[in-house]
Amino acid sequence: MTELTDILYKQSFSSEDIVYLLSLTKESEVQALIDHAYAIKKENVGSKVYLRGLVEFSNTCAKNCFYCGIRRENDKVRRYTVSDDEVLDAFDFAWKNNFASVVMQSGERSDPGFTKRVGTLLKKIKKNTNQELGITLSCGEQSLETYKQWYKAGAHRYLLRIEETNKELYKRIHPNDSDHCFEDRIQALKDLRTAGFQVGTGFMIGLPFQTLEDIAQDLLFIQEFDIDMVGMGPFIEHEATPLWEFRDQLLSQKERFDLSIKCIAVLRIMMRDINIASTTALETLDPHGREKGLKAGANIAMPNLTPKKYHEDYLLYEGKPGLFKDKEEVKEIIEDKVARIGETIGYGEWGDSKHFENRKPADT
Ligand code: 5AD
Ligand code: SF4
Repeated sequence: MTELTDILYKQSFSSEDIVYLLSLTKESEVQALIDHAYAIKKENVGSKVYLRGLVEFSNTCAKNCFYCGIRRENDKVRRYTVSDDEVLDAFDFAWKNNFASVVMQSGERSDPGFTKRVGTLLKKIKKNTNQELGITLSCGEQSLETYKQWYKAGAHRYLLRIEETNKELYKRIHPNDSDHCFEDRIQALKDLRTAGFQVGTGFMIGLPFQTLEDIAQDLLFIQEFDIDMVGMGPFIEHEATPLWEFRDQLLSQKERFDLSIKCIAVLRIMMRDINIASTTALETLDPHGREKGLKAGANIAMPNLTPKKYHEDYLLYEGKPGLFKDKEEVKEIIEDKVARIGETIGYGEWGDSKHFENRKPADT
């Protein structure tokens, strides 16, 4: 334990330190890591869980990532777009129930029809909710101009996962074309900050060919990039994707889950005041995944408010939980989960990243 304790109390982690922590398997040691991270979370961001009511407003995607179930070439997917009224209705529920913040997520499109619609919708949501609802976007790579327009229209946080920072591995999990360029993704993260957003990123854990060293680099990237919010979770194979072919080479789902929990704990120690989401993918692999993520250092939950009729068409991976649940039920479930771990929900608070607030004005 002394080696573990020495590492846990270091000022900063090297890649080797991170690999050491991610390699822990002894239950008492893993628990010591998790407990240390949880104490840091409580001290720095408190024990409130902030909600982000999620609407997956379209599953149409112009991209073809090798891991994702709604990739362009999966022609078994019924493509949908949630109507403006349905989006407004879902967010009205979020507002009236004091969620305070929401996320609009979609497949990636950058045609003018799409970018214009998002801008108009943002303005409508803001107006309908008395400018009170905080809005996060998760709509992929766009031009700086589009990011600026969306920021002006009312969104103030943006999630764009880097997916994987090892360039070689990035190329193996994406088509080799100009739509899936690693450098463009990095540039998009920079542009988001230029546009004024609180910037979120993240990566998948347990991808085929991914090593613990790769994951250590992913975590260090988040730190070096001075990211405000993180959503990361286990890779889950999907039959209708090219990566399905490598399913026999993956870590077991339990190992991927455990590794994801360790990643949350390590990142919380590395970045004390950021927002970290306890992701849906965690809950897919373990019915108590969301609570376990929160106990390891996460402080954000994203209950799904997408109208029920669209749920089965937004399957990025298989086994997604919460299918066909009404928003009322979704609210009850998250309240129950949060209460079970002795935390409270930050109702009525945006719950912005403290890291963003704490950054010196000169750096923003
Ligand atoms: N397993 C886990 N996460 C996935 N995503 C896409 N496909 C999968 C998968 N098979 C994640 C990506 C993307 C986010 C919206 O969902 O990280 O950025
Ligand atoms: Fe599209 Fe995102 Fe899926 Fe890639 S991960 S295919 S960009 S929805």
